Amino acid sequence: MEKREQLYEGKAKKVFKTDDENLYLVQYKDDATAFNGLKKGTIQGKGVINNKVTNFLMQMLEAKGIPTHYVQQLSDRETLVKKVEIIPVEVVVRNIAAGGLAKRMGLPEGTPMASTVLEYSYKNDQLGDPMINETHVYAMGLATPEEMKAIQSYALQINDILREYLKEADIDLIDFKLEFGRTSDGTVILADEISPDTCRFWDSTTGEKLDKDRFRRDLGNAEGAYQEVMKRLMGE
Ligand code: TMP
Repeated sequence: MEKREQLYEGKAKKVFKTDDENLYLVQYKDDATAFNGLKKGTIQGKGVINNKVTNFLMQMLEAKGIPTHYVQQLSDRETLVKKVEIIPVEVVVRNIAAGGLAKRMGLPEGTPMASTVLEYSYKNDQLGDPMINETHVYAMGLATPEEMKAIQSYALQINDILREYLKEADIDLIDFKLEFGRTSDGTVILADEISPDTCRFWDSTTGEKLDKDRFRRDLGNAEGAYQEVMKRLMGE
C-alpha cells in the first residue's frame, strides 16, 4: 500500500490518499488542542495510543454489527480506512452530565441523566462547531432523514456496547463524540476515532478522569491517563 498526497490536516490527525482509490490513510499526531484550538499543547505518545485504542474499539464494534471505516493498522500511528465523505454533523452521546452539558444546564458534573442525551453540532472549525438540531440538519442539507435515522440508531447501539465493555475495565463512559461518513455507494458508516480525546472516561472506583479533560483542565499526567486506558482495554 503506497501513501500518496496529503488530503487534509486536522487538529489531531492527517489524512492521506493511497494508491487504492477506495482507501485513505490516517496518521495520528501527539498535538492536543482544546476550546476550538485556543489552547494548544502536546500529549507525548497520544497519537500511538489513540490509533491503537480506536482500532481496537472499532474492531470490537464491527464484531457486534456496527459498520466502521476501519480496514487495517499499518504502524503505531497509521491506519488504513475506507474512503468516506465525512457527514458534517458531530454526534455527542451523554450518560452523565459533564463538560458542556453540565455548564449549559447548571448541573453538577457527575449528575446521572434519567435517559441518554443525544446532541448534534455542525462540524465547522471556523464557527466553533455550533450546536444544532435535526431541523438545522435538513434545512442546511447536511444529511438526509434516512442518514440521521441510521446515525441515531448506531450512536445509541455504540453507547450500549461501549458502556458494557468499558464497565469490565472499571471505566464509566460519561459521554463521547462520534463522526459518521458516507462511502461511495452512500452507505453510512462510523468514521473518525474513539479515544480518550473524544470520550470522557472516569475510573469507576475512584472517579479519576482518564481522558483529555486532564489536558483541557490542566489536571496533569494526561500521558499516564491515556496509557492507563490502553492498558485496561488491550493489556498493553
Ligand atoms: P463537551 O462536554 O465539551 O460538549 O464534550 C462532550 C464530549 O465530546 C466529550 O467526551 C469530549 C468530546 N468532544 C470532542 O471529541 N471534540 C470536541 O471538539 C468537543 C468540544 C468535545
